[in-house]
Amino acid sequence: MNIAIDGPAGAGKSTIAKLVAKELGNIYVDTGAMYRAIGLHVLRSGIDPDDTKLLEAAADKADVTIRHIGDEQHVILNGEDVNGFIRNEKVSQMASIVSANGFIRRKLVRLQQAMAKETAVVMDGRDIGTVVLPDADVKVYLTASSRVRAERRMKDYLGKGQESPSLEELIREIEERDERDMTREESPLRQAEDAVLIDSSDMTIDEVVGAILKLAGR
Ligand code: DC
Repeated sequence: MNIAIDGPAGAGKSTIAKLVAKELGNIYVDTGAMYRAIGLHVLRSGIDPDDTKLLEAAADKADVTIRHIGDEQHVILNGEDVNGFIRNEKVSQMASIVSANGFIRRKLVRLQQAMAKETAVVMDGRDIGTVVLPDADVKVYLTASSRVRAERRMKDYLGKGQESPSLEELIREIEERDERDMTREESPLRQAEDAVLIDSSDMTIDEVVGAILKLAGR
């Protein structure tokens, strides 16, 4: 059974998807981390992402694979485990920029579809229910208000001992990313027609996980 979880930045998709995968014995796949790896590669190469030719040439040279170590997904970029470098605001914004490029999307979608063919997955992203796994057994569109999402992001940073941007800044960045992810031409973020909407603003993690497991027949 494949489960697709889509939704905007900071809706809690990774946390929820990880727990649902554990309950069902599926492999958890965080597709955003793959776009982040390409974003990191572009940042490191110092090219202008608005130059489509250069961007696509750089992305072509980025070999992105996923490895699971215990419950953790690790993203490997050209042989290097980059998990420690992809969770910051710079990479978030660059991932959102590069994810609007059709060439990059096709490259990553192919990899994601191959993974889901091999094993049962709980996959989270922006286009899983609409493009990557249109035949997924359960589709969820997980969202929350931008303030709640910014508060969660802040908690994440502080919990990891990292410095956090202010709440207002985080709200601005989240709304900027939503706008870009929802209005791009290539596979914009939208709720699939057959996806179930879950607004987690006033729900606990356990409640959201329970709701999805119920949809999966548990
Ligand atoms: O889920 P995330 O915040 O880690 O994703 C980072 C960016 O990657 C996000 O702004 C949009 C993009 N993305 C995408 O376009 N399609 C996906 N399936 C996953 C992420």
